[in-house]
Amino acid sequence: MALFKWDDSLTFHIGNIDRQHQQLIQTITKLEKAMRKGESRAVMSEIFNELNVFLTEHFQTEENLFDSIPYPDAANHKEKHRDFIRKVDRFMQEFEEEKIGLAVDVMNFMCDWVVNHIKSVDRGYADIIARRQTEG
Ligand SMILES: [Fe+2]
Ligand SMILES: [Fe+2]
Repeated sequence: MALFKWDDSLTFHIGNIDRQHQQLIQTITKLEKAMRKGESRAVMSEIFNELNVFLTEHFQTEENLFDSIPYPDAANHKEKHRDFIRKVDRFMQEFEEEKIGLAVDVMNFMCDWVVNHIKSVDRGYADIIARRQTEG
């Protein structure tokens, strides 16, 4: 997998959202590097748990933020978060039960999901907030 590089198209300049998004991508990258280096399951599992914690924190921060503004896509957006958390939980569980090693396609899926979600779905509330700021 080509490591994903953060670029300005992903930056919203809203509170700590950018920092959290970067943290998510960094953690996925860290997991991917650990996998390629053949780190132990304990190390992998620690990073995986970290990712889960950051995801939960971030989704909560984001949902609190968009619930505070008129945002018509809120319910649908929350459902997308829940769905991704369920998938990541399942990947983690399968990894812990040693049914699977951490497959490259799982890594790719998680990285692509986060990047595409920021670019398309998160962009929606970010644009509304930006518009409200310029309208004062
Ligand atoms: Fe987000
Ligand atoms: Fe989101």
